Amino acid sequence: MADMGLIGVAVMGSNLVHNLVRNGYSVAAYNRTVARAVELAQSDPSGKIVAAVSMEDFVSKLDFPRRILLMVKAGKAVDDMLEQLKPLLAPGDIIVDGGNSFFRDTELRTAALAQAGIHYVGMGISGGAEGALRGPSLMPGGPEASYKQLGPMLRAIAARPADGKPCVAYLGPGGAGHYVKMVHNGIEYAIMQAIAEAYALLSTCGKFDAAKLAGLFGEWNRGELASYLVEITARIFTVHDPDSGKPLVELILDKAEQKGTGQWTSQSALEQGIALNIITSAVDGRVLSALKDERVQAAHILAGPNGQLCDQRRLVTAVRAALYASMITAYAQGFALLQNASHVFGYNYQLAEVARIWRAGCIIRSALLEDIYTAYTAQPELPNLLMADSLVKALAKRQSDWRATLVMGVESGVALPVMSAALAYYDAYRSARLPANLIQAQRDFFGSHTYQRIDRPGYFHTEWEES
Ligand code: 6PG
Repeated sequence: MADMGLIGVAVMGSNLVHNLVRNGYSVAAYNRTVARAVELAQSDPSGKIVAAVSMEDFVSKLDFPRRILLMVKAGKAVDDMLEQLKPLLAPGDIIVDGGNSFFRDTELRTAALAQAGIHYVGMGISGGAEGALRGPSLMPGGPEASYKQLGPMLRAIAARPADGKPCVAYLGPGGAGHYVKMVHNGIEYAIMQAIAEAYALLSTCGKFDAAKLAGLFGEWNRGELASYLVEITARIFTVHDPDSGKPLVELILDKAEQKGTGQWTSQSALEQGIALNIITSAVDGRVLSALKDERVQAAHILAGPNGQLCDQRRLVTAVRAALYASMITAYAQGFALLQNASHVFGYNYQLAEVARIWRAGCIIRSALLEDIYTAYTAQPELPNLLMADSLVKALAKRQSDWRATLVMGVESGVALPVMSAALAYYDAYRSARLPANLIQAQRDFFGSHTYQRIDRPGYFHTEWEES
């Protein structure tokens, strides 16, 4: 009998199987195309992987209570699998959905399966194929009792940062785990776009070629910007197209695709009234990039500078600072959303735990997450990450370079949507007085919506035309 059942042995699924086996667990694998599961079982000399030929066969190979990890595409495929599995399972069995499922779907599935006594665990998994194999960051939600049962196995396969604490924690009921993964992806979008903006300025204004960029990002990855995304960026610039010999990145069409998790993050923030302009700007960046044909036409029609007006002496230092400050604010926005969602959905997140399990294994792992973990450990009720002492200082130090970077972008016509959204958020958040008094006056002018005053309590209305 196998310790774990896994359905869906594409790259992520099969790498998770290898990870489980490496840690001493036996796995029953099932795949719609059965041959793939058979191949996987045959590839492993330990004999700890058994391939199932049907769903019935799969379920019969599992120890009770059964533990089944679904690694299928989010959406309909999950429901199809659940429909097939449900009649074969018994109360007490646990199904883990390891895909990027929408948290509301997870809520519904959890409730529906609970009626049959089946425990449903929505678990975000981050780290791509390599993470799955070597140690991902795992973000499980669902019934707490299930986590107690799954915990040892999840801790064994998860990534471990320098302090050795596995990157997994129970995050809360229902869709709590998938919600954290969704926000992880929103932050992922923002950091990726911020790095792309740094690349845009350095290559357009600074005329940095791929070799120079590889060196620079490599150097940045050894300092305060150390992170998986900066590291792979450096590596990307070293790869050449075998046919033309050109840096491969230069031959890639500039249309960014997306599967929807960034958009969900923005939608959820809008529904809750939480400012998420940085992450939304990253989503918009991908949307605009996809309008390639329109952009090519507009490039001939719309006037503007063409990337020549950079202060060359300051460029590298300024962009480095702007990237770091943008990363800090992107994390701050993601955590602000989690903090609010925690109350709205009753997830009761421990933000320090979220930061802790993002420090290794996942796509947004970074040195900065150590500081964030420390900050939330010291002050769990921080109103906003921007107010953490260490980050207050880090942002203060980079003020002038951050602003100088945006000036370079504005003057040279290089779009920097995430870096500028980040500064706009920062400046608005630190403003004791915003021009919202005028907005209130306008609302009252055209709609008698009333306003509050700074000098006396209550709500007021003015007949504006007459006064
Ligand atoms: C991860 C990633 C991963 C995500 C991809 C693609 O944490 O391992 O977030 O789960 O699916 O990054 O996302 P997009 O296709 O939307 O860019």
